[in-house]
Amino acid sequence: MYGTEKVSEDAERTAFRRAEKKYKLYYEDTFKSSKKKKQPKPVDLSEVLDFTAVLGLYKQNIQLPLGISALQCGFNGPVFCLENRPGFYFIPGALSVEEQCQWIRESLSSFPQPPNRTNHNAIYGPIDDLFVAAKEKKVLVEESSVPSLDSGANVCVGNGGSHRWKFCEGHLATSSRKTSKPVSAQVLLRKLRWSTLGLQFDWSKRNYDVSLPHNKIPETLCQLAKRLAAPAMPVGEEFQPEAAIVNYFGLGDTLGGHLDDMEADWSKPIVSMSLGCKAIFLLGGKSREDSPLAMFLRSGDAVLMAGEARECFHGVPRIFTDNENAEIAPLELQFSHEDDCSFLEYIRTSRININIRQVF
Ligand code: OGA
Ligand code: MN
Repeated sequence: MYGTEKVSEDAERTAFRRAEKKYKLYYEDTFKSSKKKKQPKPVDLSEVLDFTAVLGLYKQNIQLPLGISALQCGFNGPVFCLENRPGFYFIPGALSVEEQCQWIRESLSSFPQPPNRTNHNAIYGPIDDLFVAAKEKKVLVEESSVPSLDSGANVCVGNGGSHRWKFCEGHLATSSRKTSKPVSAQVLLRKLRWSTLGLQFDWSKRNYDVSLPHNKIPETLCQLAKRLAAPAMPVGEEFQPEAAIVNYFGLGDTLGGHLDDMEADWSKPIVSMSLGCKAIFLLGGKSREDSPLAMFLRSGDAVLMAGEARECFHGVPRIFTDNENAEIAPLELQFSHEDDCSFLEYIRTSRININIRQVF
């Protein structure tokens, strides 16, 4: 589901795969000798549903496009539904700019902290304080097999204790033939693709592993998820957030078409929040042969998938990191008031998605 799954020729022929290829980032073929910057191929966005534009129509009391309806659910604005995708809800601008900044900060500095796991665990074991280390231009080095006694707080003990990785000052990084090549924290931050909160999802088994050590989902995130989930919940029931997956996207990163089918009760929604650069989201049908609907997801938008929509393939074939299309001006303004510009530097070319689930 995640990562570089090999796509067979047959898969290329599905409607979902064709849509992914239509929107994916490709570069113009330029001569190898050319020093010019790589130019992205133009992409036709005329068929991408834009709920910000729909919100504009709604606010002016203009009739909405066929198949889209609006609900009033006690949020600041409306919640949009799609006639042919029951169980799918789109909440444009669900999060204020302050909330977006708060969750960007948390997603970078606290969500990847152990015991939460990230895609880096498999290779390096748990890594503490990756974001700070990247800011300080530190380098992760593998210690020689004998653990030293004065190893300090940020030593990382890898799988089975056989690997020990620790951050050190960039200029002190050395490697020997016995150890792997040092890797800069900035590279590791760029390669951070996911972290898991609450009950830990085991990607190798594609299942929740309740035996893995974990913290509860932070209370403020729980409250937010409960509030956002309300339109998709059966009357009188409250959403119980038990697990969350945080996805990190850089330029060219995609999330291939998939179903989230590891939760016991599909009547409960998945609450999914977008932060940072604008993306294209594909909402397919129950078969990969169904033509997906493409829509923009902007920073602060929330999406709910419940009921029948839980059985629909979906994915993210594209994020936009260029100034014109990323649409993160409000974040730039907000973060410019803060001391720490490293969040802004990251989010200028990245997207973060937090999706929250009730597992049982
Ligand atoms: C997921 C997912 C969508 C997104 O992580 O399962 O569907 O908007 N994410 O990134
Ligand atoms: Mn999903």
